Amino acid sequence: MPTVTSFGQTKDGTETQLFTLSNAHGLTATITNYGGIITSLLVPDQAGQLGDIVLGFDKLADYQGEGPLASPYFGALIGRYGNRLKNGQFTLDGKKYQLAKNNGPNALHGGVKGFDKVVWQAEPGTSADGQTLKLTYLSKDGEEGYPGNLTATVVYTLINDDALKIDYTATTDKPTPLNLTNHSYFNLHHGQAKNNFGHVLTLNADRYTVVDNTLIPTGELRPVQGTPMDFRQPHAIGERLAKVEGPAPGGYDHNWVLNGQGMRAVATVYEPTTGRTMEMLTDQPGVQFYSGNFLDGKLKGKGGTVYNQHYGFCLETQHFPDSPNQPKFPSTILRPGETFKSTTIYKFGVRK
Ligand code: BGC
Repeated sequence: MPTVTSFGQTKDGTETQLFTLSNAHGLTATITNYGGIITSLLVPDQAGQLGDIVLGFDKLADYQGEGPLASPYFGALIGRYGNRLKNGQFTLDGKKYQLAKNNGPNALHGGVKGFDKVVWQAEPGTSADGQTLKLTYLSKDGEEGYPGNLTATVVYTLINDDALKIDYTATTDKPTPLNLTNHSYFNLHHGQAKNNFGHVLTLNADRYTVVDNTLIPTGELRPVQGTPMDFRQPHAIGERLAKVEGPAPGGYDHNWVLNGQGMRAVATVYEPTTGRTMEMLTDQPGVQFYSGNFLDGKLKGKGGTVYNQHYGFCLETQHFPDSPNQPKFPSTILRPGETFKSTTIYKFGVRK
């Protein structure tokens, strides 16, 4: 069974816990029921040394920081709608909904208080695959402007053969847009005080969603062929980063249209100095690859580590941004009687 310790009280006095899942090879995933945040993920390097490969904080209070010290969603579960909605709006069955604009003119990652900032009900357990943590959250009708009482369940499983699996399930009593993901920032180096430029990324995607200067898709799915967006063959993240088109401060912050359908391997990351590899599998149609462009050295993370620009990267499996306003994108509308189900797996290994 996972071990449980206190992570202290939120600002409004709710008790939170840390759950540590481990497997026979020494891998551990520590997760808090505040925002379902993965606070630490220990995986071995090529010498068998365990190291923490996710950015985050030591204290709950730092995850609740505000203004310039707000956590940029380190490790968190994102909902009800991950990524951006243009002008914070959508129309559903003829009715127009206005959400808070918390990212320039747009709504981002579920609103002012998204699923990353609520306390989930937690149930640690064990399955045939490994130790588990089941998190459940009821998002009430009207919360952050979204319609319907939505029950979201997320099960983290630390798989015996060295993977972290995330299973998402949701049901609703009114039609609602839904886009759930996890916002972990990875850094496969020893410690996290180093940029991600040397990590070698492969992404099985022929196209990406072109965005405007507020990162809203224009609707165009553009071939990656001949651009810095082409990761069909392995490339270091830093290699073509300066050539990526998009709003300052530069780097990757785009959604790729993943090839294939159903559960499949879609991405691999390899860090040559430690030999660590991370393979990602998902059943989702897209992934936001974000190269940590907005990290700017203001945040001090675990053990006092300063998180400078590009010190972490995210691979947020998802439906495409702004889907409710893009009729040609795969639908993100969940209706009563349906059950949303999705799985993403991060598999760890080493290359010698
Ligand atoms: C977004 C970025 C944003 C980051 C943290 C990512 O998913 O695409 O633009 O800065 O989350 O807020």
